[in-house]
Amino acid sequence: MHSATAISHPNIAFIKYWGNRDARLRLPANGSISMNLDSLWTRTRVTFDGEFERDKLMINGECIEGTPLTRVSAFLGHVRQMSGINYFALVESTNNFPLGVGLASSASAFAALSLAATAAAGMQLDQRSLSRLARLGSGSACRSIPDGFVEWQAGENDESSFAFSIAPAEHWELTDCIAIISPIHKPVGSTEGHQLADTSPLQSARVSDAPRRLEVCRRAILQRDFETLAKIVELDCHLMHAVMMTSNPPLLYWQPKTLEIILAVQSWRASGIPACYTIDAGPNVHVLCIGEVSEWVTMRLKEIPGVLQVITANPGGATRLIEGEDVPS
Ligand code: DP6
Repeated sequence: MHSATAISHPNIAFIKYWGNRDARLRLPANGSISMNLDSLWTRTRVTFDGEFERDKLMINGECIEGTPLTRVSAFLGHVRQMSGINYFALVESTNNFPLGVGLASSASAFAALSLAATAAAGMQLDQRSLSRLARLGSGSACRSIPDGFVEWQAGENDESSFAFSIAPAEHWELTDCIAIISPIHKPVGSTEGHQLADTSPLQSARVSDAPRRLEVCRRAILQRDFETLAKIVELDCHLMHAVMMTSNPPLLYWQPKTLEIILAVQSWRASGIPACYTIDAGPNVHVLCIGEVSEWVTMRLKEIPGVLQVITANPGGATRLIEGEDVPS
């Protein structure tokens, strides 16, 4: 029996990943930039055992079958192939954030699984190889492997498509105040959504301008220039949602409340509050702000009727191995 446990944080993309050049290898249409979220985590233990007759998946203590198990099992296939281990595995995963509130869990899930599974199989991968492996499970998972502020370079092939840290978590005290407005599971998940990206006539324009946005975003992070970051993050969010809305069939993730929060954040920034917004494949709004104003932003978001909960997170660290039931401090 071989077992290992890893912990990983989800991430919020400042420059988004939407659409693949190769869906099987998850080679993205464009590079992306994100920040890990320290207060949210997935802890995963993987045990390979010659006695097991099939792979088994437990999430928050519940045995999971169907599509999630198939996806995890296919991923374990890569690890078995790389390591030469041919045992089935038990994957036990715990999330400290509520599932089903529309927060992405596949990033931290596949990042933690990559490290726990390879360690349990006796391998010691460097961060680049781990990021490449995590990418095969879920594209955004490759960005949860390195520390802090992270860039995923699109690359040309499996070898060159991986993520690396552009600044450590301590570099800039930003806060993500996540306004949860709907607990409903998204009707079209990201994996399916990526496949529709090329049906939008706007995708090629979004992709061809991506190197410029990546450059602006990278520089804004390195220089801690919030105003520049705010503008590029919102532009990139609008571009991705424009592609989603003009796909065939169209994907419309926003709800009236989403727009209400967008307008509120715009008015706060106009009055000098360093805050901006971004939205993933769901209706919830991530309000990014400078740490100093995060309490004010959280309070104002909570005052908006229909905001069910506000979850806050600062820049988080890399995916790492832990002993037993440890949780991040
Ligand atoms: C809108 O990484 O969840 O959050 O590779 O199919 O697992 P799969 O997709 P996923 O897509 C993330 C999409 C996004 C934008 C982003 O995080 O960059």
